Amino acid sequence: MANLHISQHPLVKHKLTTLRDIDTDHRAFRELVRELALLLCYEATQDLPLSERVVNTPMGEAHGYKAQETIGLVPILRAGLGLVEGIMELLPHVQVWHLGLYRDEHTLRPVEYYNKLPAEPTVQLCLVLDPMLATGGSAIAAIDVLKQWGAKRIKYIGLIGAPEGVENLSKHHPDVPIHLGELDEGLNDVGFIIPGLGDAGDRMFGT
Ligand code: PRP
Repeated sequence: MANLHISQHPLVKHKLTTLRDIDTDHRAFRELVRELALLLCYEATQDLPLSERVVNTPMGEAHGYKAQETIGLVPILRAGLGLVEGIMELLPHVQVWHLGLYRDEHTLRPVEYYNKLPAEPTVQLCLVLDPMLATGGSAIAAIDVLKQWGAKRIKYIGLIGAPEGVENLSKHHPDVPIHLGELDEGLNDVGFIIPGLGDAGDRMFGT
């Protein structure tokens, strides 16, 4: 799948394995999510457009570059919140637009409960953040909202995905690159990723 990017970085593999471990406590879990978000964002932003810029070093003029695009992070509440901090260390000038979606336990369909996007888009690139891509319903709904808002360039960044979610998301939004730490085996009968890591929101927030 052309739009699917699975990280091959050894640090991502190492940290994701610790993240999955049932013995990793909430504090370590949050720290690992922060670090993984930074690493995955680094990989997902390899195609950022640059403009030329000249600076003065103590030794003279240097011809360099400046990242051009205004970037917005769109964490899907709750679990997407965990990915914001690490990315803001890398991209301190981003805007953060929260979207509240939860997955109905019975229908597995996303339910929207928070959206304060202004009338017009204020960013050129949106990074949709959510650790888990299970059925893909939440990611599709979030990207639907962003496209209705007028967002033109959108990328999805997640930690773990199921093949069902990747297929569903790429079918609905083939223009959106999907960046994941790892692709797992699939979903169980209640829509949890196997082997996955359990409920990311619960492990992050101790609920
Ligand atoms: C989880 C996860 C994703 C969604 C993935 O959130 O963080 O948002 O489910 O499932 P999907 O791909 O099938 O839509 P949940 O609804 O449990 O909410 P939470 O983040 O508040 O825990």
